[in-house]
Amino acid sequence: HRTSVAIVGAGPAGLLLGQLLHARGIDFVIVENRSREYALARIRAGVLEQSSVDVLESVGLADNLHERGLVHDGIYLQHEGVRTHIDFRDLVGRTVTVYGQQQVVRDLMAAHDAIGSSVYYEASDVTPSGVETPRPLLTFSHGGESHEVEADFIVGADGFHGVCRTIIPATEISVFERNYECAWLGILADVAPSTDELIYALHPDGFAMHSMRSTTVSRLYLQVEPDDDIANWSDERIWDGLHERLGTPGWTLNEGPITEKSITPMRSSVASTLSYGRLFLVGDAGHIVPPTGAKGLNSAISDVAMLGAAIGEHYDGTSTRLADYSRRALSRQWKTQYFSQWMTDMLHTPSIQTPKDLAAFRYRSQLGQLEFVTGSQHAQQTLAEQYTGLSIE
Ligand code: FAD
Ligand code: DHB
Repeated sequence: HRTSVAIVGAGPAGLLLGQLLHARGIDFVIVENRSREYALARIRAGVLEQSSVDVLESVGLADNLHERGLVHDGIYLQHEGVRTHIDFRDLVGRTVTVYGQQQVVRDLMAAHDAIGSSVYYEASDVTPSGVETPRPLLTFSHGGESHEVEADFIVGADGFHGVCRTIIPATEISVFERNYECAWLGILADVAPSTDELIYALHPDGFAMHSMRSTTVSRLYLQVEPDDDIANWSDERIWDGLHERLGTPGWTLNEGPITEKSITPMRSSVASTLSYGRLFLVGDAGHIVPPTGAKGLNSAISDVAMLGAAIGEHYDGTSTRLADYSRRALSRQWKTQYFSQWMTDMLHTPSIQTPKDLAAFRYRSQLGQLEFVTGSQHAQQTLAEQYTGLSIE
């Protein structure tokens, strides 16, 4: 089998890249080690930047998103029970759209079904090789048969634990990382959201957030210790924590049946390069952010938009931007890393292991920061510009 681009991973990054290539008449194969059902059941991101919506629109993939997605003009920041609306539309003329990653993936899968793409689910022993040569190879097993795909390029869209980054020799790549002293406990509940837009709250007990997936499903988060066990959190304890941390006079948080709960650690990680020979990394395969700024999925989409355009231009012979992909994607990514870290540090209390004096100082300076941000037009514009998404050059 021979193709132009062999894509490893059918998450949002891999599936979207396939669509961008198809729109340019470039053939591709996608190889994924999990099942379709598994990929659709993973509950992950929920907020799309304006920039991401624009990319999905450009390939005609935004119809469901426009029909069912919830356009939000801003967010609420809350500290000490005081809730302030940050109005992105007023501040920078841009918005965000609440539309779950699962829905994005479902739309992408349907689009691939419609064009009859070669997407191999439940593949095993997925192995890229020869990326330093003009003829890279992707081998894998599928349905008991061995497959060998010869391609011009291999794209690693295989997430943080994928195989593609690991084939880059250690002398050619390093990874910059920061671990945080906290984690997020996330729930999905069958109850209409108690708020029109997302609430990010700092409370002495820790961060809490109110998000949503639709007009009937709420998504809520609580900061917990990184080594905490979900078994320690009964539904009642979760709701008590949410009432306590999100509470503000005259407002009620509505409870409903919890349909999913899990704890996610928080980490920042960025590879020093997103390319090696004829291998390119996109999305979580190259970098991850803590969830606070809602940037993981959006960064995957911006990488794919840049790489898809550069591959298209390579085949048209109109530019050599492909050689520059890693530099350009990392330049945007480091700005996103800075924003995610800033939001995370502003909104999370120090771990219980932090000395009391230091924790008290940090908390008070966080309150100072939140008072500044919520009181300054310039600071709000800075937040709005980044939250709604930097431009994808
Ligand atoms: P992925 O979605 O990870 O897709 C990679 C795909 O590659 C997967 O389908 C995987 O099965 C496949 N794969 C892996 N290894 C191989 C292999 N060897 N061979 C073949 N296929 C392989 N972001 C936010 O913005 N907001 C959030 O609230 C949020 N919550 C999250 C919660 C969790 C639990 C996690 C893990 C992430 C969350 N993220 C969130 C991040 C966001 O979901 C990711 O940034 C996004 O999924 C990145 O897309 P991707 O396609 O690059 O990677
Ligand atoms: C969601 C997750 C985030 O990390 C965030 O900043 C906003 C929303 C969500 O899952 O809905």
